[in-house]
Amino acid sequence: MPVPTSAARVAHLLGTRDPGVPAYRWLGDGLRLLIADGRIPSGHALPSERLLTATLGLSRTTVTRAYGLLGEAGYLVARQGSGHVATLPLGTARHGVGGALLPGADNTDDVLDLTCAACRAPAGTAEAYAAALAALPSYLAGTGYATAGLPELRELIAARYAQRGLPTDPDQVLIVGGALAGVSLAVRALTSPGQRVLVESPSYPNSIDAARRAGVRLVPLPVEPDGWDLDLAVDTVTAARPVAAQLILDFHNPTGGLMDDAGRERLAAALRRAGTVAIVDETMLEVRLDEAPTPLPFAAHLSRSVLVGSSSKSHWGGLRVGWLRVPTPLLPRLLQARIADDLGAPIVEQLALTELLRRDPGLHAERRDELRASRAAMLAGLPAALPGATWVQPAGGLCLWVELPEARAGQLASAAAEAGVLISPGPQFAVSHGLERFVRLPYKDPADVVTEAMRRLGLAWRAQQEFAAGRTAARPRPVVA
Ligand SMILES: Cc1ncc(COP(=O)(O)O)c(C=O)c1O
Repeated sequence: MPVPTSAARVAHLLGTRDPGVPAYRWLGDGLRLLIADGRIPSGHALPSERLLTATLGLSRTTVTRAYGLLGEAGYLVARQGSGHVATLPLGTARHGVGGALLPGADNTDDVLDLTCAACRAPAGTAEAYAAALAALPSYLAGTGYATAGLPELRELIAARYAQRGLPTDPDQVLIVGGALAGVSLAVRALTSPGQRVLVESPSYPNSIDAARRAGVRLVPLPVEPDGWDLDLAVDTVTAARPVAAQLILDFHNPTGGLMDDAGRERLAAALRRAGTVAIVDETMLEVRLDEAPTPLPFAAHLSRSVLVGSSSKSHWGGLRVGWLRVPTPLLPRLLQARIADDLGAPIVEQLALTELLRRDPGLHAERRDELRASRAAMLAGLPAALPGATWVQPAGGLCLWVELPEARAGQLASAAAEAGVLISPGPQFAVSHGLERFVRLPYKDPADVVTEAMRRLGLAWRAQQEFAAGRTAARPRPVVA
């Protein structure tokens, strides 16, 4: 049975009625906001129309109409025996922005989405936005176009590089709308169509697409579950002489690999000889879960490196704020290319991130503990779910890159969808083809959800084995993060 919400609590949460708005709209809008921000959680029952009518002193027609509006907007479902139950509209909170999906009979859409390696916002995010709004008036007298970013944010980011052993002038920092926008900008600014660009395989699919859309020729660099084969990397760079190399060296998505300083030095030397500029995506850098070496930023090994950073994994993807650290000689090209795209990141989001970085530049300790617990739950459930599968436990990042005993990632993903868990099969992360033996499994949900996801994955694995001969793989869902 859904948890009931008392009429008295609803009345308290709604506060005083605004006499300037029709009563049904005031009630409908108020309830929608309460459900949307979780103060009436999805899955909880609303009071009966009769009780709410009596408590709020409104007419029954008003309450019926307000509930009707909520139902049409997807915030309420009528359940036999339970009355009206709060829910979130499909396609927005549940799928589109990675809202929490908890298993259980109360969930109208009982599907666990493991296709997105991103977490909900950490505690303190709303406060940071409130501080940003409080600071906003002093910016309103200006134009609001901060093409390279707000100076105070660029200073904080430059100082973080200096802490990591890479002295950085704030002028070298360019604020952009997330790491993906940064990678896309860098590859377009630094290459011309038809030129060769080294791209890891597997890699983050949207960055592979960004390179593809820049019209360059992709040169794949295989990354193994246990990391990079440096001899192969040096040989590939030497043979292809790519104009740029897109790399994820810190908790690589999807393998979780962390390249150490010796590896970086060898790779940098090969890239230097080939005249290649490195575009290094450090999105996962702060998602450090275990004791592990802290290698220098790649630009300390190869000065012709553009480093791409993001607040999406350390803080929240909804901020949509990332940045580039650009070698000074390349700045004019990057700035020029950026202006063709957009004229700067939003001020309030930059202020909110400034506030968050002042409080805690890295991963929230609580978030780290949660991720460790979720990863432990996944590691505990995997052997039974996928017998014979193997993986290398990463020291950071948000996923396990799991090698199946057979090349059946597509079949497993479609069987998993039927069992109520969505996963991304390996070929989605490949530059051209292959990786059918792999699946990516993010452990970004609470541990109990991960445990349930592993149970469903186990059902899916057994189902696809039983029906392997007849099943055809469904089209995989796009990877967001
Ligand atoms: C390696 C990598 N780069 C970029 C992104 C996207 O980051 P952003 O939200 O900052 O655009 C992700 C998201 O998962 C990622 O894993």
